[in-house]
Amino acid sequence: VATGDPQAVDRVDDAAVADPHHDVLMERYVRTRRFSEQVAQPLSAEDCSIQSMQDASPTRWHLAHTTWFFETFLLKPIGDYQVFDPSFEYLFNSYYNSVGQQYPRGKRGLISRPGLDQTLRYRAHVDQAMQTHFGRGELTDDQRQVLEIGINHEQQHQELMLTDLKHALSCNPLDPVYRDGECEQVDAMGAPTWIDVDSCVARIGHDGDSFCFDNELPRHRVFLEPYQIASRCVTNREYLEFMEDGGYQRPEFWLSLGWATVTQNHWKAPLYWSKQGSRWTEFTLSGRKAIRLDQPVCHVSYFEADAYARWAGCRLPTEAEWEHAVCRGLDRPLAANQRGNWSDDLIRSGRCIHPSSFGAAQRLDTTAGDVPNGSCDPTETPLADAMGNVWQWTSSHYSAYPGYRAPAGALGEYNGKFMCNVFVLKGGSCATPSGHVRPTYRNFFAPESRWQFTGIRLARS
Ligand code: AVJ
Ligand code: FE
Repeated sequence: VATGDPQAVDRVDDAAVADPHHDVLMERYVRTRRFSEQVAQPLSAEDCSIQSMQDASPTRWHLAHTTWFFETFLLKPIGDYQVFDPSFEYLFNSYYNSVGQQYPRGKRGLISRPGLDQTLRYRAHVDQAMQTHFGRGELTDDQRQVLEIGINHEQQHQELMLTDLKHALSCNPLDPVYRDGECEQVDAMGAPTWIDVDSCVARIGHDGDSFCFDNELPRHRVFLEPYQIASRCVTNREYLEFMEDGGYQRPEFWLSLGWATVTQNHWKAPLYWSKQGSRWTEFTLSGRKAIRLDQPVCHVSYFEADAYARWAGCRLPTEAEWEHAVCRGLDRPLAANQRGNWSDDLIRSGRCIHPSSFGAAQRLDTTAGDVPNGSCDPTETPLADAMGNVWQWTSSHYSAYPGYRAPAGALGEYNGKFMCNVFVLKGGSCATPSGHVRPTYRNFFAPESRWQFTGIRLARS
C-alpha cells in the first residue's frame, strides 16, 4: 500500500492531547487517520483483503469502517455532505442496530469490492469533507465529543488491524514478515517483587475533563481487602515452567470451561508458539523467532492466565486492585501518555511490534519488598510494565460501574451492550498507539480469546 513513509509517523504530543481547542483536535484527526494508513503501508492489496476467523477483520474493512464512523456520526447529520457510496452504510456498519442492518461479520473477507484503491479514495473523500466542514474549528460541543470518540475509535482499530493481520499472516506456512524489526535486547529478569497494598476504600474510574469512554464512568468507591500485586508481568521463562510441569495436561489448574476449551482445541502452548526440534519459537509481526525467555508471556487466554495463576499459588488481580495499585499515592490521575512500548513508537524506531522484557522502561529497584512512596516520578506508575507492553487479564467480569448509563442515541451501542461474558483487560499493549490508554481504560474480550497481545500479572491475598 503506497501511503507514505513509515518513518514519518507522528506522535501526538501531550500539549495537543490536553488542549481541547478545535484546531488541535482536527490536527489529531489528521494524524490519527494518517497513522492507520501507515499501519497498512507495508501490505499488498491481497494482504489487506483476507479474514482468518470470525473475530478478526480484513485490514481493508478496518480502513473503511473507521471512515464510515466519521461519515455516519459527523458528516451525514450535517445535511449538505455528499455521501461517497450509499451501499457502504450496510457494508461497513459493525454493530449499530440503530443505524441499520449489517453485513455479516464472519464474511467480511468475502467482500473483494470496494478494493483497496477505492477504499483509500473513500478515506480521502471523508477526510476532505471533514476538513471542509470542521477544518477551521466550526464544531459544536456535541460534534467535538463525537470527533473525539471517532479518533479514539480509530486508534482502537489501529490495534485491531495489527492483531487481526498477525492472525491472518500466521495462517500462512511461509511465516510472512509484516515489517522487519529487531525485538528488543533481552535482559535477564530478576524475580518479581510483591507490592503490598493495604486494605482501603479505593476510588476507580475516570476523573477530570479529559476524554474517556463511557464505560470508565462513573468514578466510584470499591472496598479492597489487603493484597499483593506482582511488580512485573509473567515471563515466557516462568510460563514454560508451568508448561513443563504439565500445565496443559492437568485439569486441577483449570476452570471447567477453560479445561473444555484446552481439550477441544488441543492447546499445548500460547497462540503462535510452535516447537521446532527442541526449541520453542513464536510467530511475530516480524516473522518467526526463537522464544525469548525474559519477555512477558503473550497471546494467552483468560483461561490460561487463570490456570497459570492457580498453578503458581496465586490469582489474577481484580480490575479495582490493578487500577488502585497503578494509581495509588499519585496526586493526579495518570495521563494517557505514559512511557511504554507503544505501536507508533515501535514503528517509528523500526522495531518489532512485540512485547519487550521491560517495554515500559520503568526500571525500578526491585530489591525492596515494597515500592516506597515517592520512589519514582509521580507521573509514573509504581508497577513496572503496567502500561503499553501486554494487556493484563483481570478476574473482573466486564460489567457496568454503579450508576453507569449508556449515552443516548446510536453511540449508546458503543460499549454498554457488550457487558456480558467478557473479562476486563488493563494497561494497553505494544500494538496500542501511544496516547490511547490510561489506567482507568477498560478493554474487554471473551475468556477464550488469545489473538490480542494479552499477558499475565499475578496477585495474591
Ligand atoms: C474494546 C477492543 C473490545 O473490538 O469491538 C472497535 C473496540 N469498539 N469499535 C472491539 C471497538 C468499537 C472493541 N474492544
Ligand atoms: Fe469499530
